[in-house]
Amino acid sequence: MKVLFVCSEAYPLIKTGGLGDVGGALPRALLKAGAQVRLLLPAYKSLLAKAKERRAIAIFACDGSKVTLWQTRLPGSRVLTWLVDIPEFSERDGGPYGDDQGQDWIDNPKRFYILSRVAQMLACGEINTDFKPEIVHCHDWQTGLVPALLRYHNSSVATVFTIHNLAYRGVFNYATFEYLNLPPEWWHFESLEFWDHFSYLKAGLVYADKITTVSPSYAEEIQTEAFGHGFEGLLQHRRADLSGIINGIDTETWNPGADDYLERKYTRRSIKRRAENKQALQQQLGLPVDPEIPLLGFVGRLVEQKGVSLILEALTPMLERSECQLVAVGTGQKDLEAGLAALAERFPDKASATIGYSEPLSHRVEAGCDIFLMPSLFEPCGLNQMYSQRYGAVPVCHYVGGLRDTVINFCQTQLDAWRQGSLTVDEIDETGFLFNQPTAPALTTCLERALACYHEPELWRRLQLNGMHTDFSWQQSCEGYMELYRGLLE
Ligand code: ADP
Ligand code: GLC
Repeated sequence: MKVLFVCSEAYPLIKTGGLGDVGGALPRALLKAGAQVRLLLPAYKSLLAKAKERRAIAIFACDGSKVTLWQTRLPGSRVLTWLVDIPEFSERDGGPYGDDQGQDWIDNPKRFYILSRVAQMLACGEINTDFKPEIVHCHDWQTGLVPALLRYHNSSVATVFTIHNLAYRGVFNYATFEYLNLPPEWWHFESLEFWDHFSYLKAGLVYADKITTVSPSYAEEIQTEAFGHGFEGLLQHRRADLSGIINGIDTETWNPGADDYLERKYTRRSIKRRAENKQALQQQLGLPVDPEIPLLGFVGRLVEQKGVSLILEALTPMLERSECQLVAVGTGQKDLEAGLAALAERFPDKASATIGYSEPLSHRVEAGCDIFLMPSLFEPCGLNQMYSQRYGAVPVCHYVGGLRDTVINFCQTQLDAWRQGSLTVDEIDETGFLFNQPTAPALTTCLERALACYHEPELWRRLQLNGMHTDFSWQQSCEGYMELYRGLLE
């Protein structure tokens, strides 16, 4: 089975969020499961700096752009990776989608059009390589045009489009549509047209043979107005081809027993050593070292989606009452960055905010905090709640999307039963805490329950160990994709 995997991020070459984690881990898992995979990525400047060992396998023209196709390997794996090099990718500092100020690159439509065109040309055999894909698997709006282009070119190659986040719709105006010289018939509401604009994401949703998203719950939610971002009608229409396959996690990169970023490595059996990571984290971030006080952690992109405003609202009174400490790491919207920074300033010996992106610190937070916060308003899958369970940090999450599918809620009734002695430790299979309404009061109530449990050491240890014991590896999810591919090839 030959799969061309087209993505705009793949860890460790390029990552801004979970898409990068999946773009790096899933191709490796597919390879292990017996698929032949080529990973196709944009040759961003920062990425080329990491992919020093590479060779050009093709140089060709694509709609007026000169493209160099590099071949390298995804570091730490055998995954053959092809890099699409045009100046718009490779001659620019800054992020994959925008500059350091958070401004999107104005030529994003062209950049990702070329990426998609190259994918189509490869799939159609228009570029001479040793690999003729049977399936093209694309991810998010950046690659949404691929299924549309393949259909337009009458290709019989099967396509899968995975939605990692419906909120990023890749919407551009008619002038862009004309500039890219897209087929005029695509300007139609049953095609790419979207409220007088056009959407790259919609192209994927309309033309892919199969649509997947990264959790079963999100697959249901996006068919409703509340979560559909305007695509709920289309997604209902396509529901026979829509399914949810939960993400796995890379259990090598995220392994507390072998994580070089940590102060002290630990496993389930040596979980006591975890305390040294809490101490080191408190020290590193300038908080008073206190093994007893519950330490709450947050790592994530600072956007509305992540429920940062709920954290700000719910945590203020708790910090005032000295019930806990907070460490937050993230970058994104300026107002949310400022909100977290202000909280840390107001409570210098209780809260710390690191505004920025730090892979090492994100691991140290998972290993050092007691409770991991994910009050996301919506969450297609979410990876941090799985990392935190693997690291023995108990997650507190909004009951939504992939969070519903990966955290088992320990409820108030169970806590009461525990206190009355009618619930024993062996009867507890839960791994975290969930709350139903995305509001600060609901988060507060849930956190109070979590803190009450934290002060029951035996119960707490059980919740930690349950999480650490859960199998979040890619194996099963990967099998879901393999089955989908096999179905398409029959
Ligand atoms: P999303 O893809 O919506 O950002 P996920 O939970 O799926 O959310 O994945 C987020 C990934 O990005 C995790 O690996 C997380 O650790 C990482 N991440 C996000 N922000 C930061 C940051 N500021 N520093 C380090 N890692 C971060
Ligand atoms: C998106 C989603 C996140 C998901 C990730 C990887 O960025 O926001 O929930 O885990 O993609 O699929």
